[in-house]
Amino acid sequence: MTTIHVVAGVGGAGKTTVSAAMATAFARAGQRAVVLTIDPARRLADALGIPHLGNEPTPIDVPGLPEGGRLDALMLDRKATWDGMVREHAPSPDLADRLIANPYYDAVSTRLTGGHEWMAIEKLHRLVQADRWDVVVVDTPPAQHALDFLDAPERIRRMLDGRVIRGVLSPRGGLLGLATKGAVDAVRRLAGPDVLDDLQGFFSLVGDLGDGFRERGGGVHALLHSAATRYWLVAPADGPRTSELVAFRDALRQQHLEVAGVLLNRFVPPLGQDLAPLHAVVQDAAVDSDPATSEAVTAWIHDRIDARHTQALRHAACRDTVGQALGCVPHPLPDAPHGIHDVHGLIALALSLPTGLTQRTQGTQ
Ligand SMILES: Nc1ncnc2c1ncn2[C@@H]1O[C@H](COP(=O)(O)OP(=O)(O)OP(=O)(O)O)[C@@H](O)[C@H]1O
Ligand SMILES: [Mg+2]
Repeated sequence: MTTIHVVAGVGGAGKTTVSAAMATAFARAGQRAVVLTIDPARRLADALGIPHLGNEPTPIDVPGLPEGGRLDALMLDRKATWDGMVREHAPSPDLADRLIANPYYDAVSTRLTGGHEWMAIEKLHRLVQADRWDVVVVDTPPAQHALDFLDAPERIRRMLDGRVIRGVLSPRGGLLGLATKGAVDAVRRLAGPDVLDDLQGFFSLVGDLGDGFRERGGGVHALLHSAATRYWLVAPADGPRTSELVAFRDALRQQHLEVAGVLLNRFVPPLGQDLAPLHAVVQDAAVDSDPATSEAVTAWIHDRIDARHTQALRHAACRDTVGQALGCVPHPLPDAPHGIHDVHGLIALALSLPTGLTQRTQGTQ
């Protein structure tokens, strides 16, 4: 059984980086992990320190992987995934070719609201079906889109519902039936003679795919609600935007899903309660230097220590606020002062993920 970890949260919080670190942690625990990004930015490739990622899983070289451990990564290509789905569900290759060549297909596959999320889930479904991985980690775009991600199967399923398609096609009650002869002629004149034929052809072809699409919708819905699927929220330690996190938690609950944990990213831990000994060391170190220089250096170091101390206090307060609002203990992930740009940075972050994350759960093998 494949375990799925969906990493969601506020924009720029570190979802992509944390997803990659999570998948790295699983690989280092001897599991076959794949990380899928549906973030249209190329950040996953950046975090992994590789130039390019495509729509198919690419093996990532992680030093020191134990027997059985592997890491693959891919970035969703919406169009390629749509094409793959159409080819799978079309009754014949010829019908698939005709649909893909239809001018409306391009617009629908690239611009349909929620279409990106739908394809993400389609891709996720395929990764699970392939049965090549123990764990799939899904990186999502910023929060409002992540909510779309959960709703997408249902929305698209409704859109592709047989009744809607049949309604559009019906000669009496449908799109063509509703329009009077005059209106149809006007559309033909304005948009060109082929538009209505293309449009009707498009809906007719989509209608032929309807059953497979709807079944798949049910399958992915089950996948997102499976006990083997976990939802993580990532928030910046410096300003976690608690109300957005609560909104996300509530959206999950509406779907009878629970947050597995909140990860407070780029957390700066407290320096210690009493900074006096540290200040004394700085003073001592400055004693032998030129007085003017030593004074400036001492002041600079004091400023840095104070700023860091203030930041740490702020992060601790944010941790409490988020914990109270969500009724959990947020897990801090440390700030890497120089950023995370390769697998070594990911390994370091992976070591700070919650203990027990990589333990295989009951029912998984
Ligand atoms: N723990 C960390 N320490 C240091 N830098 C980090 C850490 N986590 C993330 N970053 C950096 O923060 C930036 C934003 O991270 P990332 O792209 O993962 O965020 P995101 O939530 O996926 O953003 P978006 O919402 O735009 O998709 C990146 O430059 C990344 O390297
Ligand atoms: Mg991202």
